Amino acid sequence: MGVKVAVNGYGTIGKRVADAILKQKDMTLVGVTKTKPNYEARLATERGINVYASSADSLKLFDGTGYRVAGTLDDLVSSADVVVDCTPGKVGATYKPLYEKYRVKAIFQGGEKHDTTGFSFNAYCNYKSALGRDLVRVVSCNTTGLCRVINALDKGFGVKKVRALLVRRGADPAENSKGPINSIVPDPVTIPSHHGPDVQKVLPNIDITTVALAVPTTLMHVHVLNMELNRDATEQEIIGTLSSYRRIRLFSSAEGISSTSEIIEFARDIGRHRYDLPELAIWKESIKSFGREIYLSQAVHQESIVIPENIDAIRAVARITEDPEESIRMTDESLGLGR
Ligand SMILES: NC(=O)c1ccc[n+]([C@@H]2O[C@H](COP(=O)([O-])OP(=O)(O)OC[C@H]3O[C@@H](n4cnc5c(N)ncnc54)[C@H](OP(=O)(O)O)[C@@H]3O)[C@@H](O)[C@H]2O)c1
Repeated sequence: MGVKVAVNGYGTIGKRVADAILKQKDMTLVGVTKTKPNYEARLATERGINVYASSADSLKLFDGTGYRVAGTLDDLVSSADVVVDCTPGKVGATYKPLYEKYRVKAIFQGGEKHDTTGFSFNAYCNYKSALGRDLVRVVSCNTTGLCRVINALDKGFGVKKVRALLVRRGADPAENSKGPINSIVPDPVTIPSHHGPDVQKVLPNIDITTVALAVPTTLMHVHVLNMELNRDATEQEIIGTLSSYRRIRLFSSAEGISSTSEIIEFARDIGRHRYDLPELAIWKESIKSFGREIYLSQAVHQESIVIPENIDAIRAVARITEDPEESIRMTDESLGLGR
């Protein structure tokens, strides 16, 4: 049976976290919440997932609809060891008292403030510091992408300084009321964007400044990084280091993958469910070395990059294993990453 895990909020991130939990041998999905009866609730039930209403009020919405509901969020949380909060940004923090009331360990997402948990997580960077914690925040998609590459190069060569431009997707594919539709928006217009300080919550010793723009696309984010390393590194050495991480995948424009749409087409072609690509995508030809100063461009599939980190966060707070490598290997094998 393993560790009993509840997922509160069954949207973009929640449904992916739930699917990933179902693939783990050492955890059980006790259920997910929905605020209302819709096709997602029906699909979850058809797949054998217990659906709970997120409140007594939302339970009433299920009355007479024919949808099967197992109870309310309180029932779900009281039967779990760990809850993964996947409600919209800033909503998660409102549930913290409930999780504390039932003494369950809680994992929040990047839309919550660092202060909600006092600990921001990335599996490669600080797994051991998350062991047994009651509250953990898995950092956002952009911050996860930055942490993965910075951690890899820091371990390989030492990272002195990072300057990054983030070109952010305007909305997720299903978000039909969000924009921009015909604009490039400095988001925020002030510098730095919140991403650099957020990276420092995970990697406190990294000197990083980030600038962000939002653009009319839904598929992925793109980051352009300029980094100063502690020693000279050739392009081949950098490629060798990055290639040793299963959660980083190198793409080649020479092979016809020179855009985010082609990366997504690749994910479709290899049969990835929902065309997810939890690996950080880095274009090989973008890696340029001027001795200690390097450049690279990378793409982040915002809907799925944080999913493996959530699974590792569950293992860390539940102390299933104290070894980050073991957790990362189990997660990656179960999700078919790096293949
Ligand atoms: N989407 C991304 O690209 C992305 C990437 C990394 C991290 N994140 C973070 O992950 C978190 C979730 O984002 P998301 O994109 O998955 O959001 P989302 O697609 O809007 O899903 C959130 C789900 O929470 C449910 N919900 C809404 N209000 C609720 C409430 N008051 N109580 C309980 N459940 C409620 C909704 O369920 P119903 O359908 O039942 O109404 C919705 O499906 C946020 O912190 C976000 O910043 C998002």
